[in-house]
Amino acid sequence: MKKITITLIGITLLSAASYADHHETVDIPLLKSEAMSIIKKFGGTLKPQLKSALKSGGAVNAVSVCAVVAPKIAKQINNENKDWSVRRISLKNRNPNMVLDAWESAKLKEFDQRVANGEKANKMFAAEVVDGKFRFLKAQGTAKVCLACHGKNISAEVKKKIQMHYPHDKATGYSLGQVRGAFSLSKTLK
Ligand code: HEC
Repeated sequence: MKKITITLIGITLLSAASYADHHETVDIPLLKSEAMSIIKKFGGTLKPQLKSALKSGGAVNAVSVCAVVAPKIAKQINNENKDWSVRRISLKNRNPNMVLDAWESAKLKEFDQRVANGEKANKMFAAEVVDGKFRFLKAQGTAKVCLACHGKNISAEVKKKIQMHYPHDKATGYSLGQVRGAFSLSKTLK
């Protein structure tokens, strides 16, 4: 009887250990907070530069700043976070180096639907484990400041400047509150 009890405890402990082993690496709340702090750093670096460019030279000047600065910041953020892949995405992209994967475009379409149903874009995110990767998407709503370069009534000068840098630009025609795009992060789970 004693032997059986000990064996049973052993089996229970063993299976508990292997359960923990298997799930240890997938701490979703932790991954989520890591992702959010990377996004904060990304946005917190980009936004002040965009704002000061707008202030000093208006939207025309800010287009070139954005065109140079945004990819630079993205590169820097990826270098600082080697385990992560970090980028900004959109269903109607301006930066041409952007091919969305199935998960990203499905989630962005879901975000659009949710905004159409009255939800606030800036509160939306998606977090899932897909094919051994932690995927995280944080929606970016269209604010008033975005309209000069992403809105419906873009000045001829700004339009010209955008076309110069991005001849295949699709990122216009947005109105206040719509989902402009998202930060897309992914981390391979070990
Ligand atoms: C001065 C013009 C300007 C303003 C204002 C502006 N953007 Fe952009 N936006 C750009 C440019 C230029 C790019 C392309 C940057 C690149 O090549 O990475 C871009 C790219 C993006 C992207 C990446 C996806 C894509 O389409 O390539 C997102 C997301 C985005 N902007 C969101 C916003 C949001 C949200 C705001 C308002 C808070 C905003 N932008 C305001 C010029 C602007």
